[in-house]
Amino acid sequence: MTEESNTLWHGRFASGPSEALLKYTVSLSYDQRLAKYDIMGSRAHVRGLARVDLLTEADAEAVLIALDEVEAELTSGDFVFVPSDEDIHTAVERRVTEIAGTAGARLHTGRSRNDQVATDLRLFVKDHMAMITGLVVDLEQVLYDRSVEAGGAYLPGYTHLQRAQPVLLSHHLLAHFWTFRRDVTRLMAARVAADVSPLGAGALAGSTLPLDPDGTAKDLGFASRFQNSLDVVSDRDYVADALYALTMIGIHLSRIGEEFVLWSSEEFGFVTVDDGYATGSSMMPQKKNPDIAELARGKGGRLIGNLTGLLATLKGLPLSYNRDLQEDKEGLFDAIDQIAAGLVAVTGMIATATFRTAAMAQAADESAAGATDLADFLVRAGMPFRDAHAVVANVVRESIDSGRTLAEVTTDAEHLGADAAALLAPGVGITLRSSPGASGPGPVAVQLEAATAALEELKANLY
Ligand code: ARG
Repeated sequence: MTEESNTLWHGRFASGPSEALLKYTVSLSYDQRLAKYDIMGSRAHVRGLARVDLLTEADAEAVLIALDEVEAELTSGDFVFVPSDEDIHTAVERRVTEIAGTAGARLHTGRSRNDQVATDLRLFVKDHMAMITGLVVDLEQVLYDRSVEAGGAYLPGYTHLQRAQPVLLSHHLLAHFWTFRRDVTRLMAARVAADVSPLGAGALAGSTLPLDPDGTAKDLGFASRFQNSLDVVSDRDYVADALYALTMIGIHLSRIGEEFVLWSSEEFGFVTVDDGYATGSSMMPQKKNPDIAELARGKGGRLIGNLTGLLATLKGLPLSYNRDLQEDKEGLFDAIDQIAAGLVAVTGMIATATFRTAAMAQAADESAAGATDLADFLVRAGMPFRDAHAVVANVVRESIDSGRTLAEVTTDAEHLGADAAALLAPGVGITLRSSPGASGPGPVAVQLEAATAALEELKANLY
């Protein structure tokens, strides 16, 4: 048993906590990160207690002053933690009581760490969903800028990683733009899910004291208070929502990462990563490696782990608070840190990369990416598409077998000829893609207008 028996519950116990218990259960090392929110929550609680006369004005004032002091100590690093500080909530309350004496001992009136930790974590999630949204918008801006700058540059679009049809580089970059736009929707939804105040739910069943949860919810800037005390002390759905939103960003970053790995290879040669965003090899002097892109791809794994880990923890938990719920934090903190760093790194990598548009155009022009356009040519002349597909397939096969270019074989082919072959000339195919939302210049100009509006709306709605 440890010497230190100054736990929050020591009155009930004959002996102090074992070393093993403390080592296994103490969460201070990571939940210190909630300090700012714990102090916010305590301030609102104190003001709420004063409003319903559970604290005198003088006591409330003393506690608020002590909270200011604790906040200053935590910010400056002067705060001294002691072995009995099981978590940040215990530490703050202990120090407030040291400073404010009896008034401090009244701070926890009508409150439990169960509604307290839920309040802190909801405030944390609200703030951090907004912070991550800001970083996603920065990436959106770079994708947008580079799309505008890409002008008429085009490359082969791929399906099955085989060259398929030409696409504008701007269209390709805007594909990622819309992907991240959806991530903002998910981040905002997670923020809304977190926007309910648990303060006043107590340990699980509310209180016999005349608390004012509506007032404290308003004080903390929550949209509403809980409806059910049992639900709110055990609800971590908003953490799962936040982790899902973050994990989807991670998955989207990993897809861009994979593309940059491919595109920066000598085999593709579509992009050169800026020196500041690449690494070298300790052994092979010629190497320049796209490590940011690889880590963006690799970190998807741990993000999925953080999400599924929380879901597994929540599964099968009976109402209401269970200590298992303490496991809600580390995965969330990790996901936020990884996504924040990943967004900044990938944004910088894309902003500074050189797109090798000549290599892109050459790859598009030398491929049979215009084959579908030949079939469309026959369709315009009245041929059923299935028949047109077969005619062009034969032409493609003949070109492969004979070693003659597709344009040469097309010129000589029945139903096709020189007019059709002209569609295969360099840079023509991309100009033909004109249907709404397509990859050609007309629809991409329309799309860019929509992207301009989307970006303006995003920036106007940043918290
Ligand atoms: N550190 C705990 C957590 O993060 C705080 C709540 C503890 N409540 C309790 N009844 N032991 O969940």
